[in-house]
Amino acid sequence: MNRIRVAPVPVLTLDGPSGTGKGTVAAAVAEHTGWHVLDSGAMYRAFAFAANKRDVGPDNPVALESVGRSATIEFWVTACDGIRIIVDDDDVTEQVRGETAARLASRYAAVPAVRAILLTRQRAARRWPGLVADGRDMGAVVFPDAALKVFLTASPRVRAARRYKQLKNKGFDVNLASLESEIAERDEQDSVREASPLVPAVDAEMIDTSDLAIREVVIRVLNLLEEALPGSSSGGQHLT
Ligand code: C5P
Repeated sequence: MNRIRVAPVPVLTLDGPSGTGKGTVAAAVAEHTGWHVLDSGAMYRAFAFAANKRDVGPDNPVALESVGRSATIEFWVTACDGIRIIVDDDDVTEQVRGETAARLASRYAAVPAVRAILLTRQRAARRWPGLVADGRDMGAVVFPDAALKVFLTASPRVRAARRYKQLKNKGFDVNLASLESEIAERDEQDSVREASPLVPAVDAEMIDTSDLAIREVVIRVLNLLEEALPGSSSGGQHLT
């Protein structure tokens, strides 16, 4: 009997610590290629919000599994407001975007039960024509067969300055010096945990974005994608 082999949905993984430009690069690459985007950090933030709301701490894996079954986490794409994060039918986008929510997410993200729950949801986001997956362990754990794995880095100072600008634009009251130490603390927490620590996949392409404009990073990533998967970087809108 003849067998038909179906090619897997192509995935580009973009990993790295906070402030390296992953989210912005992921959105631009997705717009250019016409691929879907997975913001896995938003999933961890939303899950932490749901667990915290139910008074379930990171030290209670059994109750966390029940949060996984009962909480509804959705991402709504809106025309004027971008992606909205909906937890249990409430729009919590603003509440989960700040640094306090990120640190809470980082505590829950260290729990293997939480990672297992979200792993299934993350893999379910793999849909045609392709997926740009942004996070910490997208290349090393969630999509080991990705067509291209990119790991973004930048100096701590540059990352803090970018995050500062981003949070200010979103209306948060932030202080650059304390943000820098909060980010360093969160990176440390994400890097030393046993479950899926923040480390590049062995086959990841490293890009230091410290001295690069977002547009330059996007072009580099698109060129790498074109090399890995010829024809893939021209499915959506073109860079002008
Ligand atoms: O990317 P973002 O800053 O929104 O992520 C918030 C937190 O979620 C990270 O600091 C990390 O602890 C966790 N995270 C993770 N694995 C991912 C994405 C995010 O552990 N793939």
